[in-house]
Amino acid sequence: MAKGLAAGNEAAISGYSVARSLRWENGELYILDQTRLPGEIMEEKQESAEMVWDSIRRLKVRGAPAIGIAGAYGLLIGTRPLLGKSVEEFMAGAREVAAYLAGARPTAVNLGWALHRCLDFAAAHSGEAKDSEELYRMLTAEAERIHAEDRAICRGIGESGEPLIREGCGVLTHCNAGALATSELGTATAPLYLAFAHGCHFRVYSDETRPLLQGARLTSWELQRAGLDVTLICDDMAAYVMSKGLVDLCIVGCDRVAANGDFANKIGTLGVAILAKHFSIPFYVACPSSTIDLNTPCGDVIPIEERGSEEVTSFGARRTAPEGIKVRNPAFDVTPHDLVSGFITEKGIIKPDYGVSLAKVVGQ
Ligand code: MRU
Repeated sequence: MAKGLAAGNEAAISGYSVARSLRWENGELYILDQTRLPGEIMEEKQESAEMVWDSIRRLKVRGAPAIGIAGAYGLLIGTRPLLGKSVEEFMAGAREVAAYLAGARPTAVNLGWALHRCLDFAAAHSGEAKDSEELYRMLTAEAERIHAEDRAICRGIGESGEPLIREGCGVLTHCNAGALATSELGTATAPLYLAFAHGCHFRVYSDETRPLLQGARLTSWELQRAGLDVTLICDDMAAYVMSKGLVDLCIVGCDRVAANGDFANKIGTLGVAILAKHFSIPFYVACPSSTIDLNTPCGDVIPIEERGSEEVTSFGARRTAPEGIKVRNPAFDVTPHDLVSGFITEKGIIKPDYGVSLAKVVGQ
């Protein structure tokens, strides 16, 4: 474990720096433990597939694109013990490791997407590889490509969304769809980082995001560190700031977009979308095009992760609810497509009719 930001742990973005959610160096995966932020900055070297699974499950690494990248590297760590076996045995073992890692969290499509991409790549190249070591090297290059592509995709999302950020405007975001949730610029934050770098002045309102406080601990931390004008609000204050005319635009991230445009994101997103409609505020969703899942026809069938009751019955280390109380803790909710003004992707802003436009973008 390394205390403090290690060399290479920060990415320079247009002159300022953001912490990297993870890094791959000399064949090793280091994850910034986000459960400790903002108080403590600590990286953990991942020693096994079990450790990567646990890091994803416990939200040490979180955010849809970041868990996809962590999964791809986790597959490498999990298949390391198979080196020296036959290519066939390696492939069989890789399938098992991928299925195991994919089970860490169910809602974001990116985890399964990245693992499938790696497995399909390995299967397609297994005939060329003279041994498991060579196949492992090829697989490493594929995981590194997924990582590098995510950096470019975040930038592309930023370029697509930047024109939405107007001088003097107020932007509300929910949860953390920032650099910490991806490889670099984030998704919902990418237009903000680019606009800021180009001299635009605007205010960001960051929802706290109960129960795990990704907005308070992560979004407000990373935006403040980068120098943006960010104001933290509790989730139940969103209606108030909107009613005061302080919000001109909402941008949130996304864990999965169904074929009809319904999408899953952090619990509370649906409430923000409903409020935005009430106050006639444009509501945009930022995501890589790989988050569009045409195999999921509509939001009703997106699997929603339910997490432990202790996240709701406590605030930090302190219990805040009676013993024995019944609790629900869905980690995500689904927002219907008719509340979405557009999907900001690296391929441009996708507008309704989503049944048609999303399929077109995925096919490009
Ligand atoms: O439970 P989390 O922290 O992984 O939830 C994260 C979100 O809901 C993000 O908005 C989403 O994954 C998009 S990240 C670019």
